[in-house]
Amino acid sequence: MFDFTFHNPTKIIFGAGKESLIGTELNAAGINRVLLVYGRNSVVKSGLLDRVMASLKTGNIACNQYGGVDSNPLLAHTREGVDLAKQEKVEAILAVGGGSVLDEAKAIAVGALADEDVWQFFIGREVERALPVFTILTLAATGSEMNGNAVITNAETRQKYSISSPHVYPKVSILNPELTHSVPLNYTAYSGVDAIAHVIEGYFTKQPGTHLQDRLVEGIIKTVIETTDLIMVEPDHARARASFMWTATLALNGLTPAGIGEYSFPCHMIEHALSAIYNVPHGAGLSIVMPAWMRWYLSKNPSQFERFAKEIFGLDSAEAGIGALEQWFVTINTPVRLHEVKIPATDIEAIAANAEGLARQWGVSGLYTRETIAEILRLAV
Ligand code: NZQ
Ligand code: ZN
Repeated sequence: MFDFTFHNPTKIIFGAGKESLIGTELNAAGINRVLLVYGRNSVVKSGLLDRVMASLKTGNIACNQYGGVDSNPLLAHTREGVDLAKQEKVEAILAVGGGSVLDEAKAIAVGALADEDVWQFFIGREVERALPVFTILTLAATGSEMNGNAVITNAETRQKYSISSPHVYPKVSILNPELTHSVPLNYTAYSGVDAIAHVIEGYFTKQPGTHLQDRLVEGIIKTVIETTDLIMVEPDHARARASFMWTATLALNGLTPAGIGEYSFPCHMIEHALSAIYNVPHGAGLSIVMPAWMRWYLSKNPSQFERFAKEIFGLDSAEAGIGALEQWFVTINTPVRLHEVKIPATDIEAIAANAEGLARQWGVSGLYTRETIAEILRLAV
């Protein structure tokens, strides 16, 4: 066990219909005007936007709507949101949607209180303040509803970079698992892969001997696999959707890495280059990178890979464990090779060059050079 500080200030309200409480929650926080950020059309189509507006009305909360957030949210749209937030003098940002909407809302919250361009915070400037963020989550995957991270793509420079700050933890996140029943099965599968990636990277890259955290991770992975399998057969499986949602939140809310010491996020680092250049869904990129990285990294921590094989799949060899995870990805229809998302092997050098920038920013460029990243990607051809 290593020393750590764990402080997660987000209030979670979990359950069917709980989005009706948003007006009351904002009221209790003394908020009078919000910028309501949402995506393309899922919240309009489902009627959720109307229900949220009704709750805001009940709480006497004035609202400016700002829709059109893309999956893999873009800097240009974020900048316009910052301008709107400043112009309308909103007091909080309310995100209604998936991880992309939540992330862009957090970035707007930071930009709204800054004199400099919001991108500066993604390339190194420290976040010192932000408007309060409230969320109503419609897609369980990223953990953004209970963490201080946000990821935005600068389409001009092809950089998909992130901020991580205590100032952007949501004040309140409402999780109604029923809202996730309409998430298409392909995105549900990508989300399962993402949640697994959030816990697996620390599990393999940390020091040995933190068994509680190993068991937490194994519980999360087993639950993701079990519930995803149920949802694939029955998309409205209420118990599975609910478990899946809370599991995805726990996978990236700071709980599992507390006490594990140093660890790294190499699969995310490489995947962000894939979605920056080709706009592939984050979880789809991860299901290509993860098995390749596991095969590349296996010799650096063989006993943990053996443990993984045994605990998750009941198998005796490390290689068989990696193969079983990859096979599960195939079963749920997520891609496991670059050509499946139409990325040619001839692009590998360019992807590695892109990921190298993030490796430097994340302080892992000693192990992850342009050459080693390319080596990993060649295992995904
Ligand atoms: O735009 P709309 O119309 O809302 O449609 C979305 C979008 O097309 C749709 N959707 C969302 N909820 C739905 C729904 N469709 C039907 N029913 C619903 N209830 O699903 C599509 C994907 O949504 P998106 O928000 O992009 O997915 P996700 O939650 O996976 O977010 C992905 C983004 O989060 C970042 C990723 O890099 C990516 O940019 N990440 C954020 C992290 C964080 N903040 O901690 C960590 C992650 O590792 C990740 O990097
Ligand atoms: Zn992720």
